Amino acid sequence: MSGMSARILKMLRNNRDYISGEDISAELGVSRSAVWKSIGKLRDKGYIIDAVSNRGYRLSEGIDLPISDEIHRYLETECFGSEIVYMDSVDSTNNLAMTLAARGAVHGTVVTADQQTDGRGRLGREWISPPGTNLYLSIILRPEVSPAGASQIPVLSVMASIKALERTVSDLPFRIKWPNDIYCRGRKVSGTLCEMKAEIDRVNHVVVGTGININMKLPDDSIKDKATSLLVETGNEYSRVRLAVFLLEEFERVYKRWLIEGNLEFIIDEWNSFSLLKDKQIEVRTANRTVRGKALGIDLNGALKLELPDGSVRFVYAGTATLHGASQGS
Ligand code: BTN
Repeated sequence: MSGMSARILKMLRNNRDYISGEDISAELGVSRSAVWKSIGKLRDKGYIIDAVSNRGYRLSEGIDLPISDEIHRYLETECFGSEIVYMDSVDSTNNLAMTLAARGAVHGTVVTADQQTDGRGRLGREWISPPGTNLYLSIILRPEVSPAGASQIPVLSVMASIKALERTVSDLPFRIKWPNDIYCRGRKVSGTLCEMKAEIDRVNHVVVGTGININMKLPDDSIKDKATSLLVETGNEYSRVRLAVFLLEEFERVYKRWLIEGNLEFIIDEWNSFSLLKDKQIEVRTANRTVRGKALGIDLNGALKLELPDGSVRFVYAGTATLHGASQGS
């Protein structure tokens, strides 16, 4: 944002009432038409600014677009989100983040969008991404670890998501469904898609893309039994900007600790305490087979520990888990 737009925005924020174009131009020492142009630029960015003749301009409350300026008003991180690229509409924030990462975007760069036209979930599934409602956020990471080490990152990101959700609504029963879904009362409220560009022994970059259903009303029959949103669960609307801030703060916190500790031990007990599947009989579909057993929780690598009917323990690294013979609810 240009220096003038930023100063006008500050004046508008500091005044609940209208400020005349004349007062703004006198304060900033610029022409009325320059003020008008900057107001236009702020509107292009998504700010809703009322203009009334003889009174001037007033910033309307309630802008809730996950744009850089809004997120930076609240964000307290060292590097996650220090660069934020916002799109009104994009095919997928993960696609754009992978492209930016390949072009050299710095560690911690974030991509957000108001809507996605081709939002992607795990295993080639669609992620429904209407405008004006939910959070779609991807972050570029450049961890100096092996590709196997980077496969622990989804454990960190889902912990960050659940903590961000709890900071937003403290009294809903959020649960993690391995590997990185978050459920609330039997329906999915958040999912994460982690993608990586790596060589055999070194990671170029990782993109962690998180979708959180916040203010979506779920009109679509195809998802109404499977998906939910904070609005559906509570009847209240929540700020996408605040959730983005909480997510980045929580993610940076666990990520830094993980780099220091060098493994997931510090987080396993807490992760397991949120687990929807722990101690339940489940079925896990992997690429080439289906395994049944009792979920014991995750191990140091983020693999799911399964106790098979013969008492042996198997570690499952990737797959889709379902509760065996029961609903997904907590
Ligand atoms: C899943 O549950 O299967 C993962 C869903 C991940 C959705 C998010 S929304 C932001 C980012 N962009 C995408 O296209 N997907 C992820």
